[in-house]
Amino acid sequence: MEICRTVNELTNTIEQVKQQHKTIGIVPTMGALHEGHISLFKRARAENDIFVSSIFVNPVQFNSNEDFEKYPKSEDEDLAILEQNGCDIAFVPTAEEVYKGETLEHWSFGSLEEVMEGKQRPGHFSGVANIVSRLFTWTKADRAYFGEKDYQQIMIIKDMVRQMESKIEIVSCPIYREEDGLAASSRNKRLSKEARTIAPKIHEILTKSYSQKEFLSLTQIKSFVESEFKKYNEFELEYFILADGDTLQPVRIKEQSQNIIGFVAVWLDGVRLIDIQKY
Ligand code: PAF
Repeated sequence: MEICRTVNELTNTIEQVKQQHKTIGIVPTMGALHEGHISLFKRARAENDIFVSSIFVNPVQFNSNEDFEKYPKSEDEDLAILEQNGCDIAFVPTAEEVYKGETLEHWSFGSLEEVMEGKQRPGHFSGVANIVSRLFTWTKADRAYFGEKDYQQIMIIKDMVRQMESKIEIVSCPIYREEDGLAASSRNKRLSKEARTIAPKIHEILTKSYSQKEFLSLTQIKSFVESEFKKYNEFELEYFILADGDTLQPVRIKEQSQNIIGFVAVWLDGVRLIDIQKY
């Protein structure tokens, strides 16, 4: 595995790969790698000649300095995981290297970013687009792999690719869940032991609501989920929204969409967790 720390090193390596007409798959990450990332690595490894990954805790996508400072960092472990999973090129830059004092681009995604994570975390998706667009340009990747836990992020990145007029294929991969149902996330590492035992309730509540979907209206599903979260003092529900999976706009009646998804953001033990449920 080649480790590139500068953009120059990366683009020179990519140039050699492209001269050999090899396909490139990228998995962008912020490190603190877990099984969810590994499931993406396996796909990228299997579907491309060259598998590239990046480890970069992108400061411009965080809304709070505290969240940025507390983001788990484990570079040596992460590089070992990449190596074990057949990564060819690891890009591990500093923030200075990525942004070089340039002014940030301002990305807009219209109604896709006016809801849920975009609404709750102003500027977040523009920050994501600033790093992901650079990674796509520098790596000349043919495919990029993202996990569906961050469903809205995938929709935003697809729109970014359209705006860039890029041909890169965005591959949306199923959520990797721990045995108890908790969606894998780097933030899970920040949960106390007690909070970790409660965290699987998020998926449990959502699947319980799914099992009743034939009998309940969307308003009733929403009330059911909200009242289930209220049963646990440890949870502070930020939102539960039923929305169309293509437009991300909220839906009120089942007839409004063939692709209804429930999106949840909830606080537990000072950690903000998100998950989704397809209905
Ligand atoms: O999903 C993430 O980990 C990040 O948002 C990403 C795509 C690596 C950009 O920093």
